[in-house]
Amino acid sequence: LQHFQAGSALAGLKLLITAGPTREALDPVRYLSNHSSGKMGYAIAEAALAAGAEVTLITGPVNITAPSQAQTIAVCSALEMHHAAMSQAPEHDIFIACAAVADYRPETVADNKIKKNDDGLVVKMIKNPDILADIANSDPRPFCVGFAAETQDVAHYAKGKLNRKNLDLIAANDVAKAGQGFNTDNNALTVFSKTQQFDIAFASKADVAKQLLNIIHQQYNK
Ligand code: CTP
Ligand code: CA
Repeated sequence: LQHFQAGSALAGLKLLITAGPTREALDPVRYLSNHSSGKMGYAIAEAALAAGAEVTLITGPVNITAPSQAQTIAVCSALEMHHAAMSQAPEHDIFIACAAVADYRPETVADNKIKKNDDGLVVKMIKNPDILADIANSDPRPFCVGFAAETQDVAHYAKGKLNRKNLDLIAANDVAKAGQGFNTDNNALTVFSKTQQFDIAFASKADVAKQLLNIIHQQYNK
C-alpha cells in the first residue's frame, strides 16, 4: 500500500520555485529573452509535490503545463518576477531559483513599434535586480538554493555565486556538455554548499530533481 501513497518526506514544507525565462520588452511587439524551457524548474515542482511539499511556482512564459497542485504565478519580465518572488519569499521555507532571469532590460520601452529608419539600432540596457541575491539577503529569509549554468570553470564560478549571493546551496550545470542544460530533457549537476560537494549523475530532469530535493532536504535539516 505504501507504494501507492504520495511521499511525505517534504510534508509541512513550503517551497518557492522560479522557473523559465523572462521577457524584456523593447516595444509593444518585441522582447529580448533566452532559450530556457522551464523543464528543470517544473520537474523540481513536480518532485516536491510528490514528496508532500506545498509548492508556489513563479514562472516565466513556457510551453509546458504547470502541475495542478502548485500555486502558480505567471509573470513575464524580470521586474515582475522579482516583485512576485519578494512578496512570496517570507512565507516559504525553501527558495529554489531555477529561472533564467534576464540580466539586463532595455532602459526604455518604446510606446510604439520601433520603425526601421537607420542602418543600425543601439539599445541601452540596464541591469535587472538579482532576485536570488535579494531574497538571500532579506530577513526572514528562506533556505536559498541557486542554479549556475556555466560553460567554463564550472566549480569556480558556481562557488563564487554561492558566496557572493549568500546562498545555502548552488547547483552547477555544465551547459557546454551535450544534452544537458537549456531546453533538454536530461541534466547532470554538481551541488555545492560552503563546505561540501554532491554530484548528481546525468539522468532525466525528473530523476535529477528528486536527487536534488534529497540533498536540499538533508542540508535544510542540518
Ligand atoms: N538569478 C536571479 N535573478 C537575476 C539573475 C540570476 O534570481 N537577476 C538567479 C538564477 O535564477 C540562478 C542564479 O541567480 O539561480 C545564478 O544565475 P546566473 O545567471 O548563473 O548568475 P548571474 O549572477 O546572473 O551571473 P552571470 O550571468 O554573469 O554568470
Ligand atoms: Ca545571469
